[in-house]
Amino acid sequence: LGKSNVAILGFGTVGRSVAHILCDSDFHGLTLTHIFNRNVSRKYADWVPKSVQWTEDLAEVLASDVDVIVELAGGLDPAGDWVRQALTAGKSVVTANKKLIAYRGVELQTLAQQHGCQLLYGAAVAGGVPVIPGLQQGLAGDQILKLEGILNGTCNFILSKMEKGAEFAPVVAEAQAAGYAERDPTEDVDGFDARAKLVILTRIGILADVAPNEISCRSIRNLTATDFAYANDLRCTIRQIARAEVREGQLLASVGPMLVSQSSPLAWSKGTENMVIATGRYGGQTIFSGHGAGGHPTAVAVVSDILTIAHGGSTVSLPARKLVTGGEFRLPHYIRFVVSDRPGIVAEIAGDLAQEDINIRAILQKPDHPADDTAFVVTVEPCRNSQLARALARIQKMDCLLSAPFEMGILSDSPEPHAH
Ligand SMILES: NC(=O)c1ccc[n+]([C@@H]2O[C@H](COP(=O)([O-])OP(=O)(O)OC[C@H]3O[C@@H](n4cnc5c(N)ncnc54)[C@H](OP(=O)(O)O)[C@@H]3O)[C@@H](O)[C@H]2O)c1
Repeated sequence: LGKSNVAILGFGTVGRSVAHILCDSDFHGLTLTHIFNRNVSRKYADWVPKSVQWTEDLAEVLASDVDVIVELAGGLDPAGDWVRQALTAGKSVVTANKKLIAYRGVELQTLAQQHGCQLLYGAAVAGGVPVIPGLQQGLAGDQILKLEGILNGTCNFILSKMEKGAEFAPVVAEAQAAGYAERDPTEDVDGFDARAKLVILTRIGILADVAPNEISCRSIRNLTATDFAYANDLRCTIRQIARAEVREGQLLASVGPMLVSQSSPLAWSKGTENMVIATGRYGGQTIFSGHGAGGHPTAVAVVSDILTIAHGGSTVSLPARKLVTGGEFRLPHYIRFVVSDRPGIVAEIAGDLAQEDINIRAILQKPDHPADDTAFVVTVEPCRNSQLARALARIQKMDCLLSAPFEMGILSDSPEPHAH
């Protein structure tokens, strides 16, 4: 194994953990030589060897004999510009930046190839869980037809607390206090973070190139503890599911809360854990799970990528193709209604659903509800989202609704019928 010099750009949570791993011992020939950050004097740490240069000047790093540049600042800019400059200077890059790779990964990968260097981003999806190298190497010999995953640890933390009876707002506050959730939790709870990760997995697993805004995202904000109680009656729980599937040459992809069977592996993931289930044409299901975030688990994935480069190895980077998106999953659905009670409500709802050829599977109502604020749940047989949206638009006009109906797909364990 040759010696490799490593520079870290961004000395935050992950950058610090990567530095710890590299400085704890002579890490398989990897030597940390530079730490770059703005206002870098605030960052000095006495456990970092004296030989390491602390700098605010990227040009100094690029002009040095560094072999691998590790970008851990995050965001599209200026991180994207740094990565471009590094690759152009012939330096291989390792990054954990899912946003950058989701939006500009194809362009940056091409740039890396043009300059005979590598761009690895194993930490960008599911932190320390080796799902990216798993798809790019371990499963490269299969044809991946479907990916389903829990890709956002913050949402999983919130949902696994709500499963125990807590409401959304206090759990978000708890997640913020514990450092899992940002002050503005939008990226996590509204699905954008998971969507960026799904874009990356779809590109390298399904080999389909999809832009983030082509994937529909639904928030977990409207979930209540009541939904979990009803889900439990259906022997399900609720998870934020990111999924992508190829059907008849079309790509179907979405992110949002879904009911998952309590017996599904997706229900096992608790707290901030992540999970990805890949279904291959030849090899069937493979499950990846573990710590999707946190400085140390993420740093392990980063250092593994640095080692791959230092070993002179490269990952299989198969070209992705553009597929038609916009196909719709055909799923059973859960719909929660909150109404002021009056006779005939269920019959009217059933009528509006029937007009769209949607059949009711079950109606559930908890006995202990206040009389003037009745919640009940209707589950329906598999239908397309557009059918359900039209039926719900009609139902929304009913005067007795106290809030808009809230619906989620029910992820079935058995294969879905085709959407044609
Ligand atoms: N944390 C995780 O669990 C995790 C998991 C998987 C992937 N990631 C990804 O890893 C990357 C780093 O995350 P993190 O949690 O370590 O973030 P972080 O704690 O916010 O660290 C970012 C570091 O980069 C520095 N930085 C940011 N913008 C800069 C700029 N324009 N010029 C110079 N320095 C700049 C920051 O300096 P200041 O201190 O001055 O702001 C900070 O030291 C992100 O792409 C993130 O999505 C993180």
